[in-house]
Amino acid sequence: MSHVRVVPFLSRPALPALLLPSGLHLFSSNAICRSVDYSPFCLVIYECQCQVGMNVEAHNPIAWFDRGAVLHSCESAAQKVLQGKGLQGMKSYMQRQPAPQSSQSRDTQPYMKIKPQICLFPISLPHEGKRNLLVTSALPYVNNVPHLGNIIGCVLSADVFSRYGRLRGWNLLFVCGTDEYGTATENKAREEGLTPQQICDKYHAIHSSIYKWFQIDFDFFGRTTTEKQTEIAQDIFWRIHKHGFLIEDTVEQLRCEKCQRFLADRFVEGICPHCSYPEARGDQCDKCGRLINAVELREPQCKVCRQTPVVRSSKHLFLDLPKLEPQLEQWLEKSTSTGDWTANAKQITRSWLRDGLKPRCITRDLRWGTPVPHPDFKEKVFYVWFDAPIGYLSITANYTDKWEKWWKNPHQVELYNFMAKDNVPFHSVVFPCSLLGAQDNYTLVSHLIATEYLNYEDTKFSKSRGVGVFGDMAKDTGIPSDVWRFYLLYVRPEGQDSAFSWADMALKNNSELLNNLGNFINRAGMFVTKFFEGCVPAMELQQEDKKLLALVGWELQQYIQLMDKVKIRDALRHILNISRHGNQYIQVNEPWKKIKGGDTERQRAGTVTGVSVNIACLLSVMLLPYMPTVSQTIRDQLNAPQSCVNTMLQGTGTFVCSLSAGHRIGTVSPLFQKLEVDQIEALKKRFGGQQVFDVATSNGVDPEKAKQLTQAVTEQGEKVRALKAQKAEKAVITAEVAKLLDLKKQLALAEGKSSEPAPQKGKRK
Ligand code: MF3
Ligand code: ZN
Repeated sequence: MSHVRVVPFLSRPALPALLLPSGLHLFSSNAICRSVDYSPFCLVIYECQCQVGMNVEAHNPIAWFDRGAVLHSCESAAQKVLQGKGLQGMKSYMQRQPAPQSSQSRDTQPYMKIKPQICLFPISLPHEGKRNLLVTSALPYVNNVPHLGNIIGCVLSADVFSRYGRLRGWNLLFVCGTDEYGTATENKAREEGLTPQQICDKYHAIHSSIYKWFQIDFDFFGRTTTEKQTEIAQDIFWRIHKHGFLIEDTVEQLRCEKCQRFLADRFVEGICPHCSYPEARGDQCDKCGRLINAVELREPQCKVCRQTPVVRSSKHLFLDLPKLEPQLEQWLEKSTSTGDWTANAKQITRSWLRDGLKPRCITRDLRWGTPVPHPDFKEKVFYVWFDAPIGYLSITANYTDKWEKWWKNPHQVELYNFMAKDNVPFHSVVFPCSLLGAQDNYTLVSHLIATEYLNYEDTKFSKSRGVGVFGDMAKDTGIPSDVWRFYLLYVRPEGQDSAFSWADMALKNNSELLNNLGNFINRAGMFVTKFFEGCVPAMELQQEDKKLLALVGWELQQYIQLMDKVKIRDALRHILNISRHGNQYIQVNEPWKKIKGGDTERQRAGTVTGVSVNIACLLSVMLLPYMPTVSQTIRDQLNAPQSCVNTMLQGTGTFVCSLSAGHRIGTVSPLFQKLEVDQIEALKKRFGGQQVFDVATSNGVDPEKAKQLTQAVTEQGEKVRALKAQKAEKAVITAEVAKLLDLKKQLALAEGKSSEPAPQKGKRK
C-alpha cells in the first residue's frame, strides 16, 4: 500500500486513454471525496506487489466504474489506503495537481454529476501451497428483481461461505454477475418499451444495489454481455467443434413473419394435437400434460401478435452429449466422491444420467445473444444455457487478465458452485460436457452446493401477485440488513424446502438475537464496564469455567466442521448454542451479586466476567460470515484486536483468549431491537399480495384480476416445465399441473368465459 499514485481526470470517458502498465491496479471508492477535500474526478493507481495488470474495460469505462464503485471490497480497501500515511501522501500529491478544467459541459454529461471516486482492486490469484477456492454464485437473470428465495439460494449462501473461507485463511475469489442474454430479456424489453441493452443496464444496476444492501461481498460482480464473453464463448465453441463434439441437424421451427422472428416454443399457442385443448403451448399441453413439438400444434398462433406462424426449417448445432458421456461419468465419479456435493445435486445428476443423455441444441434463432461464429450459422446466437455458465469465466476475465490461472488450473483450484436446485443439471452435466469437449484443461466444479426452495409464508413468491419480499423491498422494512441475513440463513432451505414467515422472523429475532445472543454479549460487556471500569478483569479458572470453555470449544469445532462442508444453516445453530451456554453460566454465577461480596467472591465475579467477554469476542468472529455489521460492531464495542479474526486459521476449534486481563473495552450498547407484533402484522399485510385466488368473490369479469392471473398462469406453466425438464417426481408434477389448471379456470372466470375449454378461442383467420 506504500506506492499510491493519483491521476486526476475530468470525466469517466477519459478512462480509455489510461492504459495501465502492468503492476498497476485501479481502485474504487467514494472515500476520496469524503476524506480528501478535493473534488475533481480522479483515478488512483496503486502499485502492488503482485505482478498483475488490471484489465480496464477500455471499451466500457462507465460500466466498469459503476461496477467497481459498488464493490464492498473496493470500498474497504480504499478506506485502508486512505488512513494514515496513505491519505497524507495522496492529499499532498493531489494538491500539487493542476485544478481540473472542465472541457465538457457538466450539465449535458450525466456522468459528470457522479461523485469522484477512487478505485481499488487487490487482485486475487491462486497461490502455490495455499488452498485456492474459486467461488461462484449462479448468475441471476437480469430481467427480474430477485426475491428472498433467489437471494438465499445463491448470492447470500456463497457470500457466507466466502467470508468464512477468508477467516480460514483460504485464498479465495468470489465472482458473480447478471445473466443477460436470451428470449426472456428480449421479452422484458418489449414489455417495458426499452431495448434489451437498456433492460440489462437498468436491471444490472438494480441487482448491484440490492446485493450491496445485503452486504454481498463479491470480489467482482460482472455481467454476461461483454466482449470477453464473446471471445471466450466462441473459443470454447471452436474447440468443441474441432474435437468433433458437435452435430448438425435440421429443425422444423415456427416463424412469425409479422414479428420477423423464430418463435421460442413457449411463445406459440395452439390446439393440442393429443387432447384438443385450445391453449396448449409449443412445448407442452397443460391439460393432458403431454410434451408437444411446436410444429405439431393445430392452428398455432404467435403469442405476441396472434398471427399464424409458418413452418421453416433451420439448421442447428447440437452438443454431442452421448459422445461425451463416458468422459463425464469418469469425471463425475471422482468429483462427487472427493468433493462436497449436496444430496439433491447428486440425485438430480444421477437421474439425468440414468435416462441417458441426448444431444442438446446449443444454437438459437434470436438476436440478443452471443453470436455463433461459424459461417454456416451466421444469423444465430448461442442458447443461453450454453452461454451463461461461460459467464463465470468471462466475468473473471473482466476482473483480471490472468483469469486462466483460476479457470485452467484444476490441480490448484477448487471450484465451488452455489445455486438453487433447478440449476443443477446445467452445472453438473451440460456445462462440464462443454468444458470437457473443449479440452483445454479447464477447472471443473469440485463442490456443487444446491439449495432446495424457499417458500413465502405458506405459498410461493410471486411477482405478479405481489406476494413475497423482493430484494429491493427488504430495506424499506426498516429491519437491518444483518437481521435479514440472519433469518434467511436460519431458515436456509438446506436439505429440504423451507419457508420464510414474518411471525417466525419476529420470533427468532426476539428470542435468538435479542434474548439469547445479544443479551449475552451485552451483559458480558456491561459487567466489564460497570464492575471493572471497562478493563477486562484477571481470571482464575475453576473447574466450572473450564467445563464451559470445553463446551464452547466443542461448539466451535462443530461450527468449523459444518462450515467446511457448507452446512451453513446447521453451523449457525452452534453459535446460538454458545451464547445459550454463556447466559446460563452468567445466570448461575450471578456476578452482579458476587461483585458486592468479599475478595473471593469479587474475584469470582471477575473470572466469570472475563470468561464471558472473551466468549463474546469469539462469537463476534463466528458471526462474521452471517452478520458482518453486527460482528464488526461487537468487535468495536469490545475494542478487540484485529488478530482475533485469526481464531479459525488452524481449524482446530481451540478456544483462544483474545482479550487478556487489563484490556480496555469500548462503549457497550444493545445490538438488537425487538420486533413488535403490530409492526410485523403491518409488514405481513403489506407484502402479502392481493389474494387474487379468492374465487368466492370473483363472480364477474375483472380485467385487473385477469391480468394478474394471466401472469400467474405463465409463472405456474414455467414452473411445470422446469419440473419436467428436471425430471422431477411424477406426483410433484401432477400436483403442479393441477394447480395450473385451477389457475386457468379462475382466469377463464375473471375473463368472463366459461371455465371449460372454449373452442372459439384460437380461431382468428
Ligand atoms: N440465470 C439462471 C437462473 O437464474 C442461472 C444461470 S447460472 C449460469 O436460474 F451458470 F448459467 F450462469
Ligand atoms: Zn393436450
